[in-house]
Amino acid sequence: MTDRPRPLVAGNWKMNGLKSSARILGDLQIGYTPGLRSKVDLLVCPPATLIQNFAVLAIGSRIAIGGQDCHAAESGAYTGDISAEMLADMGASYVIVGHSERRTYHREKDADVRAKAEAAHRAGLIAIVCVGESREEREAGKTLAVVRRQLRGSVPEAATAADLVIAYEPVWAIGTGLTPTPSDVAEVHALIRDELRRIVGRADQTKVRILYGGSVKPSNAKELLAVPNVDGALVGGASLVAADFLAIAGAYLV
Ligand code: 13P
Repeated sequence: MTDRPRPLVAGNWKMNGLKSSARILGDLQIGYTPGLRSKVDLLVCPPATLIQNFAVLAIGSRIAIGGQDCHAAESGAYTGDISAEMLADMGASYVIVGHSERRTYHREKDADVRAKAEAAHRAGLIAIVCVGESREEREAGKTLAVVRRQLRGSVPEAATAADLVIAYEPVWAIGTGLTPTPSDVAEVHALIRDELRRIVGRADQTKVRILYGGSVKPSNAKELLAVPNVDGALVGGASLVAADFLAIAGAYLV
């Protein structure tokens, strides 16, 4: 992997944050120093209610703003849903699709996730496609098979290195404080890199960023981000504390 992509550290705020949370974004802007900027991209995915405000506040800071989900359709009678075009219209440049919380609580299947990723591309957004096994699947030795199946089912065939990010988030590691060992992470990320050859082609497979997510904290970021084929992190809880999020990104400073 000589041509490693530029790393991306992304914060998924989930259903957290009010208008007053703009101060967290302000602290991130202050902490995103030229040194850090030269090493790593930062992305904040707040709840949809804050995207427009954050996108305006972030102008000039090079911190990208993204959504946490989108509907597959451009518009229509889908009460409560938000389209990729609406996210783009508010100033988002990324959208997370297929997060395990969407797959679990909203019963999203691989085909739904793929349709959402296609919608993201239609709207000019970069899709962060999430995959990851449950605890039962890991204990049954099915991790690689599950991740392969999710990738093949969830990533649009027309995806390119420019509009695709993959996030590997083992479900059992999300919000639990548990993390896989570096060698377990390496094994899954190697599989994802290999699968990317089928999706974006051999020439571009090394350009797609593969993020690790699940209980990433300042204390474990250095170890996890040093794993081969880990090109950044998708951070939940720790992304709500500016100092912690910046410390995670700071793992790239040395
Ligand atoms: P935590 O970092 O809180 O474990 O959440 C990870 C996650 O789900 C990011 O999308």
